Amino acid sequence: MDTPLEACSERLTLRSFDYALVNEQYLSWLHDERVNRYLLKPNKDTTLDDVLAYVRGLVESPDNVFLAILDRATDEHIGNVRLGPMDHESRVCQYSMMIGNADYHGRGVGTETVALAADICFRTLGFRKLFLDVVEENKAAVRIYEKNGFQTEGVLRAHKLLNGRLHDLRIMSLFNPAER
Ligand SMILES: CC(C)(COP(=O)(O)OP(=O)(O)OC[C@H]1O[C@@H](n2cnc3c(N)ncnc32)[C@H](O)[C@@H]1OP(=O)(O)O)[C@@H](O)C(=O)NCCC(=O)NCCS
Repeated sequence: MDTPLEACSERLTLRSFDYALVNEQYLSWLHDERVNRYLLKPNKDTTLDDVLAYVRGLVESPDNVFLAILDRATDEHIGNVRLGPMDHESRVCQYSMMIGNADYHGRGVGTETVALAADICFRTLGFRKLFLDVVEENKAAVRIYEKNGFQTEGVLRAHKLLNGRLHDLRIMSLFNPAER
């Protein structure tokens, strides 16, 4: 997607991803057990080239928006949001995120990020519905989506093999409040 996007809250900036942010710090997040525990793709053996390929795939895709989460006070890169894949015809968009710098966990950053990203998705990009899947055990994630008004549509039972164990996946969604 070509148009640069940006949204700010008191503490955070959400901005279209810049390739300069693909660096050792970003890679280290993927190797951090506090961050990768519930992520759905293998991350332990990921290299910087893998990260670059992943980012390029999203930045160049017409069906995805990839955003960096920055600490507004310092401009430090602390995580990412992916809006996509997008179904432009049905105006439905998938959501995923990662607060990669674990020093920022448990401080309300995730909750604030979801609100900013939903605003971009609905008001700027004009989608009708956001949805996501989340590992049921990832209670912090489920909580931040609930706090932002997401509702559970269902649970895919014993659906995802992660770290040698099958996990339930909860499907959650949020409708554009302006279209309800
Ligand atoms: C999951 C994640 C986005 C949460 O972000 P965060 O900034 O740490 O979350 P917040 O501080 O905004 O809120 C966490 C909420 O979960 C609650 N919580 C945390 N652990 C919990 C647990 N084990 N059980 C119940 N609630 C829990 C907190 O109390 C808080 O709720 P509250 O504000 O009502 O007290 C972040 O930890 C992350 O990116 N993790 C790694 C990647 C990931 O899991 N991404 C999500 C994929 S769907």
